[in-house]
Amino acid sequence: MLRSSWVNLLLSFSFLLHNAPLVEANFFSRILSFGNDEEKPPQPSGARQASGAMGKVGSIIAFDKGVLMAHLANNNRIPLIGVGVGNAPRHHVSALVAEAVQDDKRVRLIDTSHASGNEELVAEGIIAGAERLGQDEKLEVHVVTKVWYTYLGYERTKISVEESLKSFEVAIHHPKVNLRIHVLLHWPKCFDNIEWMNCAGEEEAMDPMVKAAGPDPTKDPENAWKESWKYLEELYLSDKYPVESIGVSNFHLHDVEKMDRFARIHPHVLQVNLWNLLYDPMLVDYCHKHRIHLQVYNAMHGTVVNARRAPHALHHLQKVSNDLTTSAGLPVTPAQTILAWLVQHGVSVIPRTSKLTRLEENSGVVLSAIPALNDEQVEIVANAVEAYLSGEDMEKDIHVSVTFHAISHDIMLYWLGSDGSETRIDHIWKGETFDEVTYPNHRFRTYNAYNKDEYVDHVIDVNFGEHKNIHVEL
Ligand SMILES: NC(=O)c1ccc[n+]([C@@H]2O[C@H](COP(=O)([O-])OP(=O)(O)OC[C@H]3O[C@@H](n4cnc5c(N)ncnc54)[C@H](OP(=O)(O)O)[C@@H]3O)[C@@H](O)[C@H]2O)c1
Repeated sequence: MLRSSWVNLLLSFSFLLHNAPLVEANFFSRILSFGNDEEKPPQPSGARQASGAMGKVGSIIAFDKGVLMAHLANNNRIPLIGVGVGNAPRHHVSALVAEAVQDDKRVRLIDTSHASGNEELVAEGIIAGAERLGQDEKLEVHVVTKVWYTYLGYERTKISVEESLKSFEVAIHHPKVNLRIHVLLHWPKCFDNIEWMNCAGEEEAMDPMVKAAGPDPTKDPENAWKESWKYLEELYLSDKYPVESIGVSNFHLHDVEKMDRFARIHPHVLQVNLWNLLYDPMLVDYCHKHRIHLQVYNAMHGTVVNARRAPHALHHLQKVSNDLTTSAGLPVTPAQTILAWLVQHGVSVIPRTSKLTRLEENSGVVLSAIPALNDEQVEIVANAVEAYLSGEDMEKDIHVSVTFHAISHDIMLYWLGSDGSETRIDHIWKGETFDEVTYPNHRFRTYNAYNKDEYVDHVIDVNFGEHKNIHVEL
């Protein structure tokens, strides 16, 4: 079952990658239409238009030993589905990583950063996980780490990377681990207009040894990151460490475009906020043209974690999830639908979770079993995600319609809350009907209007957009 789903998924990918037609209202169909590279994307004239622009996204993907991998421009690979521990509580990190790499989840990508200060815990977790797995061959695990903006500039970046590599050293040399490292610049600079960034304060608090090594990057913000990049290039070309790729994070199009002028190596990976994927089509298109692999953060926090921001969007997403549940034969949650939507387009994801059950829910083993979303589902998910990110809900809600038929008695109809509370809806005379609009899995109770001891409960077990008849015989 799982295997054939994987095969179907790959077939669908190759169909999407090579044959996707231009579908006017379909964001991802368009960004996957490899057919006409000459076609220039229209200039975006505003954020909401951007999801309709003809940017392109998506790396070529393939399975290797049951792990979905994206191919990078340097012909190395990166797992498409990882776990983010960069902002996870320290006491969870090692145990989570050890658990994530187990066979039922097979997570092979861990996202962290130098600024997170937990790289040695990541290494510890990878070793513990590999030892627990106990397989003969080395466990290939990829780690993404990043250089914080206070470490921009050649010498400072060298210090940051050397500290990261020192933290990973124990895993690099471990007989059971094949550690592959991806090093990114976390930000192009410290931005005075980003509220949580404290450019002067952070510089002030830097270790004197780092300050002495290289100039304050805030004094030359347009060039400090270029010096950092030169160091990353040397690191990558030196072959001294298992550095699989180098890349950048939170870079704007104008930053990466500058690399054309001075860089020997284009970034292999760009890690961005999910927001950029929908609203920054020029950046997405540039990445596609230069084969820069896109990886997104904020995939959960920007969407399902704040689902109340856009209740209509949630219902649309639930409908897609329910349909996928039916076709996959396994439960598919709205969170998984969003993750599948991303990875099915060659965009890698690094969701963070503190819950072991969610490690499995977000894992490649489970996500790979989700069938390829069709064009309509792709579009619905894109619209729902856009609604979450913009805070502007989808215009139309979707429902289930139900008709209650009072067959044997006059009945009283109540809606049942999840806490067991009852809300009275209507009195239905024997032989008459009552139409209600509701949602899947909502519950109702019908009482004999003259004897409250006689009642029957009803669960709405149909999907959004469907109709259900309920014949009440007491
Ligand atoms: N490059 C950058 O500048 C940058 C910026 C931000 C983050 N990151 C990195 O990106 C990684 C991911 O972090 P993020 O901040 O983007 O967070 P995220 O993964 O978008 O969201 C994490 C939140 O989602 C919840 N969650 C996870 N799986 C879920 C599921 N299946 N259903 C419902 N809720 C779910 C988690 O709750 P539970 O814990 O309760 O499961 C947690 O509250 C981290 O490594 C982080 O360091 C990078």
